Amino acid sequence: MIDIFDSFYKGKKVLVTGHTGFKGSWLSIWLHELGAEVIGIGLDPYSEKDNFVLSNIGKKIKADIRADICNGEKMKQIFAEYQPEIVFHLAAQPLVRLSYEQPVETYQTNVMGTINIMEAIRATKSVKIGVMITTDKCYDNKEQLKGYVETDPFGGYDPYSSSKGACEIAIQSWRRSFFNPKDYGNTHNVSLASVRAGNVIGGGDWAKDRIIPDCIRALETTKVIDIRSPKAIRPWEHVLEPLSGYMLLAQKMWDSPTEYCEGWNFGPEADSVLTVWNVASAIIDNFGFGKLKDVSDPNALHEANLLMLNIEKAKTRLGWKPRLNAKQCAVLTSDWYKRYKTENVYDLCLEEINKFIG
Ligand SMILES: NC(=O)c1ccc[n+]([C@@H]2O[C@H](COP(=O)([O-])OP(=O)(O)OC[C@H]3O[C@@H](n4cnc5c(N)ncnc54)[C@H](O)[C@@H]3O)[C@@H](O)[C@H]2O)c1
Repeated sequence: MIDIFDSFYKGKKVLVTGHTGFKGSWLSIWLHELGAEVIGIGLDPYSEKDNFVLSNIGKKIKADIRADICNGEKMKQIFAEYQPEIVFHLAAQPLVRLSYEQPVETYQTNVMGTINIMEAIRATKSVKIGVMITTDKCYDNKEQLKGYVETDPFGGYDPYSSSKGACEIAIQSWRRSFFNPKDYGNTHNVSLASVRAGNVIGGGDWAKDRIIPDCIRALETTKVIDIRSPKAIRPWEHVLEPLSGYMLLAQKMWDSPTEYCEGWNFGPEADSVLTVWNVASAIIDNFGFGKLKDVSDPNALHEANLLMLNIEKAKTRLGWKPRLNAKQCAVLTSDWYKRYKTENVYDLCLEEINKFIG
């Protein structure tokens, strides 16, 4: 595999929370291939069809730890035992609709879980970099056409979005109070950033009420695909896009710890800002069959209709940019779901990472 990070991750001790999930499994595979010692903390995978399970990445990494991030003391113990240098914090309850059913648990995991990870970072001297994953939904969404910039106010309508807005406020506070760049090298040695991606799609996601898993479940059982919010516009991107941004950011932070410890958007180019209907159509085009049905309900739970990210900062200051257009993103995503039943999924993921890089 071509190493676009110039051997930076080779031999580094990298702790990934949420490694059993959709994005975390891809990140663990990529880091493992680059020679990192990956320590994963997460709950059990949701299903036997998850990318984490099928790729067998849990057996390849240095440590596959099942633990709850709500247990702050346990987090400190794990950090003390494994002495990570870089932390990618992805573990979360990431679903908007589930957050209406479980608002307290969503806040506990997302807000207190994030605080527990920052406290574990604070207690563990080996940690130099913390990349905290929030979301595009952390911004106070005014349903505007303009993409949000990193300095826009945080907010969130539903419990998931607002919990991530609250995470951002906590991250900002911990950075000011304990990891302040002006005190770097004196009172601490930590560079802490937060990162906000758009609507991430890719192979191995089976989450409830997400458009791609909904499409695939229907296609596999030859059912019509129900589209709840056909006109909603989201910043769609392949999972490898934001992951490449998080990894590049951590590399930059390692070299210049006080220069990059802030918030970063890693969204798609404007041509990938499509409606839910467009994205589902792209998936059925790639499968060559399937039917969509508009089941929008005016009384449904509130979900954002229009949400876009401005990515100029990551482009100009990090030299990062999306590699795939919307069509390539749909092809790569469909490909995984067409092939996972018959092929070695770890190799399939590597092939997709290579295609993405190439
Ligand atoms: N998928 C997207 O479209 C998207 C977009 C923007 C941001 N994000 C963010 O990226 C991160 C990963 O999202 P994902 O789509 O991979 O989600 P996912 O649900 O597939 O994975 C979540 C991971 O967190 C772990 N986890 C959940 N609760 C935990 C707890 N209490 N203790 C320990 N581990 C716990 C799960 O075991 C799993 O490994 C989340 O922080 C999410 O908010 C996702």
